[in-house]
Amino acid sequence: MQHTIIINNISDLSAAAAEFLKICSGKKIFAFSGQMGAGKTTFIKTVCEALGVKDPISSPTFSIVNEYVAATGEKIYHFDFYRIKSESEAYDMGYEEYLYSKAWCFIEWPEKIDGLLPDNTVQVSISLQDDKRTLFINL
Ligand SMILES: Nc1ncnc2c1ncn2[C@@H]1O[C@H](COP(=O)(O)OP(=O)(O)OP(=O)(O)O)[C@@H](O)[C@H]1O
Ligand SMILES: [Mg+2]
Repeated sequence: MQHTIIINNISDLSAAAAEFLKICSGKKIFAFSGQMGAGKTTFIKTVCEALGVKDPISSPTFSIVNEYVAATGEKIYHFDFYRIKSESEAYDMGYEEYLYSKAWCFIEWPEKIDGLLPDNTVQVSISLQDDKRTLFINL
């Protein structure tokens, strides 16, 4: 089933994140696709803040994954696979331990590990036209 959320500007972001969590209730693994600069990191950050994360949230730069803690105490993993060259690098970093851990997982550049995503992954694509962003959510 597909849902769409429209984000016209930054002031829509926190309401969009709350709506996203409601639509995706019960799901914990999310693959965010969209061109460079589409707003993947920004949206994931807003969703993590809605989950009560107090740690600083930014795209993982020195590693592939960042770890945060939600207000419930649940772990959240934030991946950016942009720089990996092959799926074998995902095996090397032990991706299965994260994706099959029952923690929340937010994944940027999932195309890089397409064959490795669990079946219950929610596919989210962000499209950017002018300054308007549309999220297509496939549950
Ligand atoms: N909803 C939004 N409203 C206004 N500006 C936004 C929004 N989302 C993102 N931006 C801006 O767009 C720029 C790129 O955003 P972001 O880093 O989230 O993109 P990304 O998809 O994660 O890019 P990358 O592919 O490089 O990881 C940032 O300067 C950010 O502030
Ligand atoms: Mg990013």
